[in-house]
Amino acid sequence: MSNGNIIPHNHTVKQLDRVAKNGYVPKVIWFTGLSGSGKSTLSDVFEKYLFDEGYSTYILDGDNIRSGLNRDLDFSDTSRTENIRRLGELCRLFLDAGVVILTAFISPFAKDRQTVRELVGEQNFIEVFVDCPLEVCEARDVKGLYAKARKGEIPNFTGISSPFEEPEFPDVIVKTAEMSIEEGLEVLKTEILKKFKIDKNAV
Ligand code: ADX
Repeated sequence: MSNGNIIPHNHTVKQLDRVAKNGYVPKVIWFTGLSGSGKSTLSDVFEKYLFDEGYSTYILDGDNIRSGLNRDLDFSDTSRTENIRRLGELCRLFLDAGVVILTAFISPFAKDRQTVRELVGEQNFIEVFVDCPLEVCEARDVKGLYAKARKGEIPNFTGISSPFEEPEFPDVIVKTAEMSIEEGLEVLKTEILKKFKIDKNAV
């Protein structure tokens, strides 16, 4: 808890300096969807594309972050909210550093996603709904977790015993049950790339 004696330093090199040097405006590309919907796969191929195009990029992914920084958190509603809160703060730092940040977290609660949107700034946040029916995610069961959850071995499993609140107005929707990874990538390129352009009037 802050005791009122924390006085943030105002650094000389600002985000605008980094934007001007890099030649693009970094964004948070926030993939949300059920476990097994394709968030990690899509964010991975899109990062590779952006990286090859010369952008500075980084991915924060659920299972990876939960193995380190957030390993103290479980899957209760409170812990999921804290998971997303910390990620929001990380995203803010990455944006400040000029890095395009892609995240792949279930992030099941609309209010938590909204909190991040407000924290990093509406204009910096691109919500990508990786839309895949539960039946398809469950049939894929890449990690074998749905089978365990159905047997009652995993409590609070999203889609089974814990809710997923679909985004009402996502910036981008990728329906992964109806298209290939390559087609999904095309959707992302078309919808997102234009948002990195520097608006000379705004800088
Ligand atoms: S979130 O809900 O807090 O956003 P997060 O994306 O970090 O979830 O982690 C989800 C990943 O944790 C899943 O892809 C899955 O591999 C694993 N996992 C383990 N337990 C659960 C659970 N109860 N519900 C959902 N995912 C779980």
